[in-house]
Amino acid sequence: MSIIQIEHLKKSFGDNLVLKDISMNVNKGEVVTIIGASGSGKSTFLRCINLLETPTDGKILYNGENVLAPGYDLPKYRTHLGMVFQSFNLFNNLNVLQNCMTGQLTVLKRDEKTARATALENLKKVGMDRFIDAKPAQLSGGQKQRVAIARALSMDPEVMLFDEPTSALDPEMVGDVLGIMKELANSGLTMVIVTHEMAFAKEVSDRVIFMDKGLIAEEGTADDIFIHPKEARTKEFLHRVLHPEP
Ligand SMILES: Nc1ncnc2c1ncn2[C@@H]1O[C@H](COP(=O)(O)OP(=O)(O)OP(=O)(O)O)[C@@H](O)[C@H]1O
Ligand SMILES: [Mg+2]
Repeated sequence: MSIIQIEHLKKSFGDNLVLKDISMNVNKGEVVTIIGASGSGKSTFLRCINLLETPTDGKILYNGENVLAPGYDLPKYRTHLGMVFQSFNLFNNLNVLQNCMTGQLTVLKRDEKTARATALENLKKVGMDRFIDAKPAQLSGGQKQRVAIARALSMDPEVMLFDEPTSALDPEMVGDVLGIMKELANSGLTMVIVTHEMAFAKEVSDRVIFMDKGLIAEEGTADDIFIHPKEARTKEFLHRVLHPEP
C-alpha cells in the first residue's frame, strides 16, 4: 500500500489556482522526484503534502487515512514527514547538536540520552559529527544543509520531503549534499524531492513527475521522462534546462 495517496488536490491563493488537480501516490521505499519550471507549483505541492499549506480541495491519505478529516491528529502526521528546505531553516541560536535534539525532546518527548544518541548517529551519517558545538553561522551552506538533513532524519520520519535542497548552495558544495541524498535513497528511505539537478534526478529516481502549470503533465521512470519523454511540454522543458541558451 502507498504511504501517501494524494487525490485531486487543488490549492488556490485568492483567485490564483496554483494546483489544479494533482493525484499521485508515494510508495514505501520509493524515490520520487518532481521537476518543472519555476512557478509550476512544485513547492506549493510539497507544502500541501505536509500541510504547511492547507489544500483548497482534494484528499491526502496517510497509510489509508484521510489527514484532512476532522479530528485527525495533524501534529502527529507532521512528525512522520521530514522536510528539508532550500534555505536550511536551522535554529540560529542553537548549536548543531541542539538543532538535531530539540524536536526529539519537545515533539517526540524522547529523553536526553536517546535524543543525543540519535542526533549523533545522524550527524555522523552526513559527516557533521565533528561540528556538534558549532552554531549555524559558523558553517558553510553545504554544512548547514547536511545538519538540516540530520535534524530531519533524527525525527525518524517515514517520508523525507526535499524542496530544492541544493539550489542555494555554492557549486562546490552541491556534490556533497547530493551524495548524501544518494546514500539515503540507496538505504531505502522514502523520499520526495523537488530538484533542478537533472543528472541527479535521472540517477536516483524510481519515478519522475514533471509538473507544468499546476498539473502533472507527465510521470514515469527516469528513462521514460529523460530518455523517452512523450509530451511536447516535457521535451521542451528538458531541452530548455539541459541546453540553456548562452
Ligand atoms: N503563499 C503564497 N501566496 C500567494 N501566492 C503564492 C504563495 N505561494 C506560492 N504562490 C504562487 O503559487 C505559484 C506557484 O509557486 P511555487 O512556489 O509552488 O512554484 P515552484 O514550482 O516551486 O517554483 P520555483 O521553481 O521557482 O521554486 C506562483 O505563482 C506563486 O506566486
Ligand atoms: Mg519552489
